[in-house]
This record gives sequence, C-alpha cells and structure tokens, in this order.
Amino acid sequence: MKVTVVGAGAVGATVADNIARKELCEDLVLLDIKEGLAEGKAQDMMQTCALLGFDTTIIGSTNDYGKTAGSQVVVITSGIPRKPGMTREDLIGTNAGIVKTVCENILKHSPDAIIIVISNPMDTMTHLALQATGLPKHRIIGMGGTLDSSRFKYQLSQHLQCSAADLNALVIGGHGDTTMIPLIRFATWNSIPVTDLLSGEQQKQIVADTMIGGATLTKLIGTSAWYAPGAAGAALVEAIVRDEKKLFTCCVNLDGEYGQKDICLGVPVVIGKNGWGKIIDFPLNEEEQAAFNKSAEAVRSMNDVLKTL
Ligand code: 2OP
Repeated sequence: MKVTVVGAGAVGATVADNIARKELCEDLVLLDIKEGLAEGKAQDMMQTCALLGFDTTIIGSTNDYGKTAGSQVVVITSGIPRKPGMTREDLIGTNAGIVKTVCENILKHSPDAIIIVISNPMDTMTHLALQATGLPKHRIIGMGGTLDSSRFKYQLSQHLQCSAADLNALVIGGHGDTTMIPLIRFATWNSIPVTDLLSGEQQKQIVADTMIGGATLTKLIGTSAWYAPGAAGAALVEAIVRDEKKLFTCCVNLDGEYGQKDICLGVPVVIGKNGWGKIIDFPLNEEEQAAFNKSAEAVRSMNDVLKTL
C-alpha cells in the first residue's frame, strides 16, 4: 500500500504525520516543489518512528513524481494558503494552475489513484480535479465537509460540555465561510437531538462559529490552520485504505442529488476502498434546501472563474 501527499506545507505534513502514526500504508511519499522541504520534513517525521512506534516509511521528494508511482491514494494539499482577511476563494487564480499540474503528473505515475483534494478553494479545486483528470467521479473526493463537521462537533462539545466523540453532526454545502451549512437540526448527542438541549441563542452561536472556524484560526495564527485539516485528510485516507465504508461529508460530483447537477459540493457519502460510493440524499427542509441552493450558486460562479483563467 502506497499513499502520496503532494505539498509538504503545514497541512500536507500534518496529513502525512497522521497517516504514518496510524500506519495506514507501508510507503508514504511526501512531495513538494520547494527544494529540500519534503525531504527534510520526511526525515524529521522518520526520526519520530522509534518514539511513536510506527513502521511506515516516509519518503520525501522534491517534485520527482517517479517516486509516487503506484500510489493507491493521493492527497493534494498544494497551493498557497490564505492569509488573514483573505477568503478561500481569493486563492483560485494561483491554486488552479498548481492543482491541474499536480493532477496531470500524479496520473502519469498512478493511473488508478483515488484523489483527495484539500487545496482551496476546495469545492472548485475538486471540480477542477475531476475535469482535468477525466477520472470516474467516485475517485475524486474533496475534504472540506469532513473538517467542517469536526469543527461543528467541537463547537457543540464546548456548549454541551461533552465528549466530541459522543456527537453526531454534519456540515453540508460548500467549504466557504458563507457557503457551509451546519445542520444543527440533525445533530445529536448519543441520539438525543441537541436542539432539545441548547437555547436558540446557543444554536445560532455554534452555527456561526463553525462557519468562520477556519477564518478565526487564520486570523489568530496569521495563516491557514493545519491540525484539523491534516487530521481530516488522514481520516479519509484511513476510510479508503481500510475500506471502512464510513459516512463522511465530502465534496463530490452531484448528479441530481439534493437537486443539484454538474457541481461538486459537500454531502454525506460512504467512503471505502473505491473512493466515494453512495450519496445519502435525505430530505432537507425548505430553509436548508434554500441554503444548499445558494451555496451551489456561489460555488458555481467560482467554478466559472476557471473558464477565464
Ligand atoms: C481550513 O478551513 C485549510 O480550508 C482549510 O482551515
């Protein structure tokens, strides 16, 4: 089993670190365009293997795609991260070219790979990856909703003073500050609806804090976050390599589900060895469906920007 992470910045390195700690593959390739960066971070991580007790071999490489040959899963984190005040959408011009080139290079050496997209703006980069590769749609997965759902559970756990692991909650729609939809109506604490346990005011606060989860961290840190995005990326890799058939919110190509077509957006999907399988298309109420349609509209106009690049 071989996995490649493209981009050895903070997010890519954290994805790799989580993959290695969980021994999700025998060989893990970390690739970056910046001379020495991936080699250095790979060696640094390898120097933790005696302490952490993992046997995964991490191979760092400066842009040698030959080293990635035969990867079953490839995680794309390449591109510039956002700075305070920037939206994920501001990154499109730079990151589109990078993601397209990465996809082409990856497929030359790993034609059967399942691709997980983390680069921002994530929904549009997932759409681009699908277009650029022409791969069957189940092999292209955008990570956003997995991260946003984890942030949603964190926010809920703080208000409920409970273990986040006891919570079920999902964020659908786009991976943008205004396009994501934390579905509080469906969130439960061990099957008990959280809406029975939280005031209307608390619910509003949780939803708002979830939506600006990434932006809040960007403001605090001075650049985009990496621990939760890295853990979310690795969770998807785990579901694929262990064929877990777990339900995650991921950005996938819709063909009529949730009333949308020809767009990649966050919806609940089953993740296993073939990538994403079944989309769980459950009925939204009027308000939620309107928010989903609005989210689709925003992502669609971002996708249209690709045509002008
Ligand atoms: C975030 O929300 C990196 O988009 C990612 O932190």
